[in-house]
Amino acid sequence: MSKMSRRTYDVITFGDTCVDLIMSGTDVVPRFGQVEKLVDDYVLEMGGSCCIFACQAAKLGLRTAVLGRVGHDDFGRLVVSRLAESGVDTRYVSVDPTLKTGLGIALCQGGDRAILTYMGSLAAVGPDDVTDELLSLARHLHHGSFFLHTGLIEAMPDVFRRARALGLTTSLDTNWDPDETWDSTLDEVLPLTNIFFPNEQELLRIARRDDVDLAVEWAREQGVPIVAVKRGEGGASAFEASEGVDCTVDPVTGGDSVGAGDSFDAGFLAAWLRDLPLSECLKIACLCGRSVAGSIGGLAGQPAWAQVVGGNRAVRVRSPGQSNR
Ligand SMILES: Nc1ncnc2c1ncn2[C@@H]1O[C@H](COP(=O)(O)OP(=O)(O)OP(=O)(O)O)[C@@H](O)[C@H]1O
Ligand SMILES: [Mg+2]
Repeated sequence: MSKMSRRTYDVITFGDTCVDLIMSGTDVVPRFGQVEKLVDDYVLEMGGSCCIFACQAAKLGLRTAVLGRVGHDDFGRLVVSRLAESGVDTRYVSVDPTLKTGLGIALCQGGDRAILTYMGSLAAVGPDDVTDELLSLARHLHHGSFFLHTGLIEAMPDVFRRARALGLTTSLDTNWDPDETWDSTLDEVLPLTNIFFPNEQELLRIARRDDVDLAVEWAREQGVPIVAVKRGEGGASAFEASEGVDCTVDPVTGGDSVGAGDSFDAGFLAAWLRDLPLSECLKIACLCGRSVAGSIGGLAGQPAWAQVVGGNRAVRVRSPGQSNR
């Protein structure tokens, strides 16, 4: 792995530590007036984009650490065990007895979902936690939940600037902005980002364009060298310099889409940090995203490196002017 030999970690990220309780069935709409309804199924699993990303990165062979906090509670212990089981170094995840571990309750019915979120430890990382000493242990810094890590938003331009000065490369997946303003300090962070991982809807809103090509062009004008755009079962595209690559995927059903985008990011990075070409980075990213999209929860479908290197006919990359391969 040429981009990452001498440092302790290949990648570090900030933990949006939380647990997802996913309730599913034909009728999961609560009724007040003390009505008790029975649901068909539930899953309790670690959530959080950055934590799901970290687990996928570790499973793909990247030496990965998470910086974060959890509460002194069972959900906190669940988060730490899932990270550790996946191979993530958890020494920088501390237990803070003043916090409760974050919790998301998702009610899933007929392909739609409603979510109630208690933030707690999810947004507990602050600027003082992100020391130069920690940053300099890694080759790459990935930031996943830009808008939910409220303790870090103001500091992110400084964090990315310091990371780059210390020789790290950087990647950013904002995920959705619950306030839907799509600004804050993003305009200062993008020029310091090597790889930008939005989904199509997020990109259009961030770029304030109604056309994806124009939005990609806008992102590149901000100084982002690589933009990878996710389109769910429509696959993804990646752009670098004059190169553009599309990837189509055979759709999967039966899973929820939790964590597909975060595992996509980790797949792309695991290939990029191994110096593989753009088309290969995109293909491996889509294989990871598709595999997770076909499973319940963000962790269940995450593949290992040996499962993605050989490729898979369910995922096909194409550069404009090329036939499918
Ligand atoms: N239903 C599906 N069938 C096949 N592949 C899928 C499906 N959903 C997602 N993928 C794969 O996973 C990748 C990332 O998923 P998606 O586009 O949903 O990211 P996202 O919107 O960032 O998701 P997230 O909800 O995790 O933030 C897609 O580019 C695609 O390759
Ligand atoms: Mg996403």
